[in-house]
Amino acid sequence: MAKSANKNKALPIYVLNGPTLNLLGTREPEIYGTTTLADIEKMVVARAKTLGLSVVFRQSNHEGELVDWIQEARTKGCGVILNGAAYTHTSVAIHDALKALGKPIIEVHLSNPHARERFRHRSYVSLVATGVIVGLKAQGYLAAVDAMADLVKGQS
Ligand code: DQA
Repeated sequence: MAKSANKNKALPIYVLNGPTLNLLGTREPEIYGTTTLADIEKMVVARAKTLGLSVVFRQSNHEGELVDWIQEARTKGCGVILNGAAYTHTSVAIHDALKALGKPIIEVHLSNPHARERFRHRSYVSLVATGVIVGLKAQGYLAAVDAMADLVKGQS
């Protein structure tokens, strides 16, 4: 049991980011904060390292590319941390890809979508997520890494 847990732990966490998150830092800073996505990547990689984990960190504005990366994580990742951005609220394709993942999924949002416009209240990701972290800005990604480390440790 310990053997396969270790084997799984050796696989990286996939941290995937959806559309327009490449503009973090300048995009609506009053909502999303001033931390850039490159800053978040550095924070996430450093936190994962302290937990003995590595990270594949990516961003795309394209739904199909996100689907491809989620599928890649089925064999190459230990779990997925996803900020699907706007696709969270629209994408059945991402929902279906996550459903086929078979590994822990943590949904992250910098803002709290539930406290915002009505169209942000629906999440196709939450329906299949192991856990959801919202409203903590960049710190939410670190909380997700901590949670993922625990989930992976529990894998047999
Ligand atoms: C977001 C929230 C989404 O509603 C929005 O479309 C985003 C960012 C967040 O991190 O708060 O692009 O995912």
